[in-house]
Amino acid sequence: MIPTLEWTPAGVNFLDQTRLPLEETYVLATDYHQVATVIRDMIVRGAPAIGVSAAMGVAIGIHHSSATNLVSLTAEVDLICKTLAETRPTAVNLFWGIAQVRDLYTQLAAANTPIPQIKSAVVALANRLYDEDIAQCKTLGANGADLLPREGTVLTHCNAGALATCGYGTALGVIRAAVERGHRIDVLADETRPYLQGARLTAWELLKDNIPTTVLCDNMAGHLMSKGRIQAVIVGADRIAANGDTANKIGTYSVSILAKEHGIPFYVAAPFNTIDLATPEGSAIPIEQRSPREVTHSNGKQMTPDGVGIENPAFDVTPAKYITAIITERGVLRAPFAESIRTMAANSSSTLTTA
Ligand code: MRU
Repeated sequence: MIPTLEWTPAGVNFLDQTRLPLEETYVLATDYHQVATVIRDMIVRGAPAIGVSAAMGVAIGIHHSSATNLVSLTAEVDLICKTLAETRPTAVNLFWGIAQVRDLYTQLAAANTPIPQIKSAVVALANRLYDEDIAQCKTLGANGADLLPREGTVLTHCNAGALATCGYGTALGVIRAAVERGHRIDVLADETRPYLQGARLTAWELLKDNIPTTVLCDNMAGHLMSKGRIQAVIVGADRIAANGDTANKIGTYSVSILAKEHGIPFYVAAPFNTIDLATPEGSAIPIEQRSPREVTHSNGKQMTPDGVGIENPAFDVTPAKYITAIITERGVLRAPFAESIRTMAANSSSTLTTA
């Protein structure tokens, strides 16, 4: 399994995704400020991985605190959570991960739990979230596997794989599960300008698993669809609104329209905690704007003339009407999404069929 991130006695160890595919190096974050930097600088990225990293960030902050009473520890926890929450705005998993550890802290502090016990409990929780993420990806992979063709080509955008989670992946988890069941799938990976998650990361991890993978530039998908070369599209998600509108890596929206035009199913795969019931529709999802340098430069080399205007929104929103199904670990959601999401949220043990 690809070790995206890991809690160690020395700190949280992250595979440095900014250096892939050419170098496999690790960055050890020994305090919560360093975890925040790792998330902000995209050394770790992908919504579920960001969520667990943030949980580990809060846990490491509490674990290393020198506070001797709960009043000062609580003030520190506020600051830790604020610092981590300011790293990236779009993936709701970040806020979910922070809230998980914070809620446990609040509960234990309210019960006057001794500080050493609080420290062990938050670290144990962060590690449990890590294990649960892998289990959820495997379950959602199994739930979605048979939606993919027995034989054919599947397009994906960005990296929603092992690298974007604690292991296995969401969209790539579904592809992995299908391949494990004997589907003969070729993957087309959009390069995903400007950060190249598809070209650098999706290609790297799928080749490691011997899944045939071809990289294409983002503007080539429509042509290949028109030639009948793509049988399904599957992507991950950074935040799914209560009506099913889905924020994912910039360029996903265009792919969804192309898929609709060509009658190709368009699937979103995400753990249920990516659904943000507090966000009614896609227009309310905050879209991260990243540095112009990601667009102006490639591999340290300037690509555009000085002084030109630059756009760099990191995500876009795919309206629910373009989504064929949302695959989660709890089951497969279909339109009308507002209703199916509400039902699934109300019944956490519900398991919808994949048919
Ligand atoms: O900016 P990134 O690389 O963090 O964006 C990642 C994506 O958009 C992924 O598709 C999404 O987080 C789902 S990952 C399972």
